[in-house]
Formats: sequence, structure tokens, C-alpha cells
Amino acid sequence: MKHQSAERGAWGSKLGFVLAAAGSAIGLGNIWGFPTQTGLNGGAGFVLVYLVCVLLIGVPVMIAELTIGRRSKSDPVGAFKKLAPESAWKYLGGLGVLTGLVILSYYSVIAGWTLKYILMTVQGVFDTANTESVTQIFSGFTSDGYQTTVFHLLFMCITVWVVTGGIEGGIERVTKILMPVLLGLLLLLVIRSVTLPGAGAGIEFYLKPDFSKITFEVVLAALGQAFFSLSLGMGAMITYGSYLSEKEDLVSSAFYVSLSDLTIAFLAGFAIFPALFAVEGLSPDQGPGLIFIVLPNIFESIPFGQAFGVAFYILLAIAALTSSISLLEVVVAYFIDQRGWHRRKAAITVGIMAFLLGVPSALGEGAVPSLSGFLANADFLFGKLSLIIGGLLICIFLGWKWGIQKALAEIRSSNDSFSLAPVWTILIRFICPLAIAVILVDRLLSLFRA
Ligand code: TRP
Repeated sequence: MKHQSAERGAWGSKLGFVLAAAGSAIGLGNIWGFPTQTGLNGGAGFVLVYLVCVLLIGVPVMIAELTIGRRSKSDPVGAFKKLAPESAWKYLGGLGVLTGLVILSYYSVIAGWTLKYILMTVQGVFDTANTESVTQIFSGFTSDGYQTTVFHLLFMCITVWVVTGGIEGGIERVTKILMPVLLGLLLLLVIRSVTLPGAGAGIEFYLKPDFSKITFEVVLAALGQAFFSLSLGMGAMITYGSYLSEKEDLVSSAFYVSLSDLTIAFLAGFAIFPALFAVEGLSPDQGPGLIFIVLPNIFESIPFGQAFGVAFYILLAIAALTSSISLLEVVVAYFIDQRGWHRRKAAITVGIMAFLLGVPSALGEGAVPSLSGFLANADFLFGKLSLIIGGLLICIFLGWKWGIQKALAEIRSSNDSFSLAPVWTILIRFICPLAIAVILVDRLLSLFRA
């Protein structure tokens, strides 16, 4: 058993934990997904709804996951085994582990694109770009299966390397360096963006809500986005919470992590929309092409654009890396805790599995103008459906099965006041499951709408 806990590891400090968990949350979902969704869903109104979703649904579910993790000190499968022995709940943990593996497989493919984009911007490939030529460059690259696979492999190797270093010596150490770099780069881009002539229109689009644009669909989009962005629904926060010491306050931890995630997403929009509106002829509702097709046009048209372009894609790669680390760690924790593997063996084996599983996504057809093929299907089933099902069941587990009282006892062991306990109880038992069930139904119905 002693050997086992040495193999598991623990965070060195609360700051280290918060940065690592924020690193998990802050990812492609923030820098790519959030601005894309904001652009598609009418701007400022979406931003407002998103804020409410994070506070009302995201934070309570994150508290729930961290509590389950710290109480059980185990990977997602072990967590449900310990808290509900001899029951089928362990399969919920299993679903989480599987979901982590699949999301990692295609997340790494997209992260590989960001590496390629760093190189292309450095080389000045986009120097004389227009929308048409960037589209061609993008589809040329994404349909070149050899290249996408190589960059996918490269990214996976970096992820495995970090996770092999363990919790404190690998994940915490690397995220502690990368998160401040990420913030610095992003602030630089925001300043560049808002000081461009003509930036005002973008700021208005982003900050002045047009309430007539807030529809039911917008609310659902915001809720789904919040879930993915906060890394909820598959036990990533259960896993990260399991390395958290008894004395750290779970509620403020969840709050800091969510706030960091929110802040970075918000800043990403600030880096993009003012610049986008400052360049003539571009529109914000481009869908997933926003980052890989629209942005190179912006960088091409603004002063010092190339340098800012390089900074942007480095930022995107860093954000992706700290997230892919957490996806890998969930699966690795399973093999360490449940199968007694050594961390190194687990990280390398799972890395190879995720790499192979990602190859069909890497080989899939060029993803223009929206994601398509294998990657899109994997994302729908695991990134969209499975996370939501997992989130719903986690609420039901904590609120109705394992028990609110036991959860409150765990939370109060490190925060004896927890004055918001009654609010949290209502949210986690009623409001969160209800809201999540609504997205689930909507996503299932979308299968028939297409
Ligand atoms: N939150 C990350 C992003 O915004 C993605 C991510 C990492 C994730 N780990 C997760 C999503 C676990 C859900 C569950 O890009």
C-alpha cells in the first residue's frame, strides 16, 4: 500500500493544484471553442449566459467532483468502488476513463495542428494570405494524413513525457511555468487587438448584449461549452482532487479554478473580436474555421501581425498541452490505482493507445468548414454525449446515492463554515441534474435533426 501511494503522488501546494486544474480546464475549449461559440451565438448575450452557466452549474459540479476525488483518493473507477461498494456505479468511473482516452486521442490531433501552425507562422506562410488561400493552406495540411499524424505523435510524446514525471514533479512543475506564460501571451494579444483602429465595433459586439439574441439554443450552447471547458463529466476533477491534501478547501479551489477558466476564455474573446472587426470583410460567425482560417488573415493585415500570430499559436499549444495532460492522467491514474502499474509504464502504454486511436481522426478528411469524419463523430459521442451523461450521473450519485451529508462532511473537514451549503445542496440535487438532462435530450434529438 505504501508503494501504491508513492506511485500515485500528491500536489506540492494549493497553488500548484489550482494551476494544474486550471490548466486542465483552460484549453482549446477556451481559446478556440469559446470565441467560436460566442461568434456563432450573437456575441455579448452569449458571454453573459455563459457566465451564469459557469457559476450556477459549473462550479457546483466541480465541487462535487473534487469532493468525490479527495474523499476516495482514487482514480474515477476506484472512487465509485470505494464510495459505493458492490454496486454498478464503478461503471460510471469506467465510462469516464474511456471517455478520457477517446477525447485525448482526437484532442491531440487538433493540438498537433497548432504545432504546425506555429511553424507555418514562423516561416511566414500566411504573409500574403487572403481567406481563400488560407482555406487552401488549412485544408491542404489537414488532408495530408502523413503530416497530421506526425504532429499528433509529436504532441502525444510531449504529453506522455510530462505525465511520466508524476504529479508534483511533472504536471505541477510544468503547469506552474506554462500558465503564467499563457496569461502573458494572451494579455499581449489583447492589448494589440483593442488598440487597433476600428476595434470599437468588436468590443461592442462582445460586450453590449442584444437580449433579443438570447434564445433557448444560446443557453444550451453556453451550458455545453461550460461543461467541456471546465473539464467536467468524466472524472478529470475527481482524479485531480484525489491528489489534494486534507487541509485544502474544496469550495475555494473549485471557485479559483472556474474563475481562471472564465477569465482566460473571456480574454481570448478580447484578443479575437476587436481585431476581427478591425479588419474589413471578416465576420465573427465562421464556426470552427475562426482560429485556423480567419485569424491568419487578421495577423496578415495588422502591424507586427506575424509576431502576434506566432505568439497566438504558441498560446494555443500551451493551453492544449495542459489539458491533454489531464486527459492522460485520468487514464494513467486508473492503471496505477486499479491495476498496480508503475506510472511510467502506464503513461507510455496509454500514450501509445491514445496515439493509435487518434490516427483515424488524423487521417480524416480536411476539416473545412466544420469538423467532419471520424474526428467529429468521436467528439460528438465522447466530447459531447458522454461528458454530459457522466455529469448527470455524478450529480445523481452525489445528491441521491452516496449522500449530500457525507459530501458536506468531507467539504467541512477543511472549511467548517461553508455557508453556501444549502444553496449548493439544492443546485447539485435539483438544478444541475435538470439543466444537464435538458442538454442531453437536446443532443440526442440533434441526431434526428440532421
Ligand atoms: N477543458 C479542456 C478544454 O477546454 C478540455 C479537457 C481537458 C476536458 N480535460 C477534460 C474536457 C476533461 C472534459 C473533461 O479544452
